[in-house]
Amino acid sequence: MAQLNINYDNTKGMINKNIYGHFSEHLGRCIYEGFWVGEDSSIPNTKGIRNDVVEALRNINIPVLRWPGGCFADEYHWKDGVGPRENRKKMINTHWGGVTENNHFGTHEFMLLCEMLDTEPYVAGNVGSGTVQEMSEWVEYMTMDGESPMADWRKENGREKPWKLKYFGVGNENWGCGGNMRPEYYSDLYRQYQTYVRDYGENKIYKIAGGANIDDYNWTEVLMKYSTPFMDGLSLHYYTIPGHFWKGKGAALDPSEDEWYKTMKKAFWMDELITRHSAIMDQYDPDKNVAIIVDEWGTWFDVEPGTNPGFLYQQNTIRDALVAGVHFNIFHKHHERVQMANIAQTVNVLQAMILTDGSDMLLTPTYHVFDMFKVHHDAAYVPVEVSSPVYSNDEREIQQLSVSASKNEQGELNISICNIDPNKEVPLSISLRGLTDTPSKVQGTILTAEENNAHNTFKDPDTVKPEKMEGLDLSGETLNVQIPAKSVSVITVSAK
Ligand code: AHR
Repeated sequence: MAQLNINYDNTKGMINKNIYGHFSEHLGRCIYEGFWVGEDSSIPNTKGIRNDVVEALRNINIPVLRWPGGCFADEYHWKDGVGPRENRKKMINTHWGGVTENNHFGTHEFMLLCEMLDTEPYVAGNVGSGTVQEMSEWVEYMTMDGESPMADWRKENGREKPWKLKYFGVGNENWGCGGNMRPEYYSDLYRQYQTYVRDYGENKIYKIAGGANIDDYNWTEVLMKYSTPFMDGLSLHYYTIPGHFWKGKGAALDPSEDEWYKTMKKAFWMDELITRHSAIMDQYDPDKNVAIIVDEWGTWFDVEPGTNPGFLYQQNTIRDALVAGVHFNIFHKHHERVQMANIAQTVNVLQAMILTDGSDMLLTPTYHVFDMFKVHHDAAYVPVEVSSPVYSNDEREIQQLSVSASKNEQGELNISICNIDPNKEVPLSISLRGLTDTPSKVQGTILTAEENNAHNTFKDPDTVKPEKMEGLDLSGETLNVQIPAKSVSVITVSAK
């Protein structure tokens, strides 16, 4: 038996919808094929961007989209990606498969994509192999109104008015693919580069420094010590990898319970990572002016057999859905410090929402979690007291339920519940204080499956899809329900 205690009237801060953000890199088939098919493609498109993908993503209200990388960002030279496409300089995408990049998807195409998705752009600049001037001119190109060399060039290239750009990242993984720097060195470079990331007119840039890899707490310490006044956000990257990064990560479709357990255990680690990075940040920034921006997270498995190892294409199962749900519950808990998160990556790469094959497209279990959890966007955080059985495997154990709750402007309470045990359902009793005098109705949506590796294919795209939750029994202040094994649920309690 599991028990939740929730006080309907007790809210504490807000959940920033930007934690439901996305990341799309020039990597494998994410940008090319996933979004960009070109104007002459037989796949229905608008100015080269495929319509089916845009339509599906609009449904989950993506709040912010990070681009162009990732590791690609620190070798991307934006000037090669503007102007007539046929004249654009080609480059080699050395990080991701050594393929030739034709630069057909550049700044104008990305900004158009954001307009089509109705999402905020988050652009990652090049520190590793780019100059201060190059970064500075990119911001001028995108945001300067009136007359200036870059604004004039943008107009020549077909865009009269500047774009609105809020989020700008100064480098990516500068401890690794972004230049193999020491934190002291990067911190100084960050201070220098960000100085020339200017606010033009009304456009105000929110500056994000490249943050730590996983549990590199020293990186956070150094950045906070030397650069706090110059940052709005500091990033954090952590991927859920059941195995070993170099020696075999594990297969996306592995049905074994051992892999399941390791994955869940690693997913829960995000809580500790945020807690410890936050504690360091609290010392330098007790008022929480600098946010944690988890701009890369998600599962990372071995690529699907027979696919290009540099393209990071993996299938997506009910296990991924659980990982997503657990992460959101963790981000909700840390809503005061975590102001944005960007899953890696939107289409065809790592923990994707969408997979494509030519003109075919499917929605993954992870997509459905984003859809179900959109009720939490910009909602008030409601603390939950959780008493849960444990899910154990040999001597190791983790809490079986991951839970969080929020209340929206209409007064609806949304409770998201992940049962990470692949075998055991659990009876759940939810005590809802503060509801007694208000007649209420309750409804729920659930995502679950029979097999540990249940997933959607182009032939069977609806194997894993949300269903109406049955058996919700509300009586007075108490809601009783049976939570199936390996399930993600969202229960809505509303005053009539
Ligand atoms: O998302 C794939 C890669 O993972 C990104 O390019 C990089 O930033 C990280 O190591």
